[in-house]
Amino acid sequence: MISERMAAELNKQINAELYSSYLYLSMSAWCDNAGYRGFSSWMRVQAEEEYAHAMKFYDYMLDVGGKIALDTIEKPQTEWDSPYELFEAVKEHELYVTKLINDLVAVAIEEKDYATNIFLQWFVTEQIEEVATASEIIDKFKMIGKNKESFYFLDKELGERGAATQA
Ligand SMILES: [Fe+2]
Ligand SMILES: [Fe+2]
Repeated sequence: MISERMAAELNKQINAELYSSYLYLSMSAWCDNAGYRGFSSWMRVQAEEEYAHAMKFYDYMLDVGGKIALDTIEKPQTEWDSPYELFEAVKEHELYVTKLINDLVAVAIEEKDYATNIFLQWFVTEQIEEVATASEIIDKFKMIGKNKESFYFLDKELGERGAATQA
């Protein structure tokens, strides 16, 4: 049986993952409106992944008898200056989520909740991947600078990654 404190923290994380999904969907909509079909598709896949993360926490709570309490999802930002700024925001957000996951691990250890600690390890690894992916994309933006043709191909490349994951 999970402690009340651990369950409360996991409920907060369900909300944080749903917010992540909402934020990336908002980014996807912005990309679509701005005509970046590839970036939009990438963001949409990202939004779906975050929803799946929320459900991983949700199902874990069911497994260990934690009481699920869904809360209000914060309104996401809706405007960005450029795709570059957008991906910088992705990285910043993933660094923030990494901190949330690390804090959860610390609580699990304090509560001597070894099951939850093991459950959280998947997210520890996932966060390394998330930050690395965002950093790689930012590096590509830096490399191409204001070259319109390269920009077109980067949009295409990220769109393909999205389509492959969706299939
Ligand atoms: Fe996530
Ligand atoms: Fe994420």
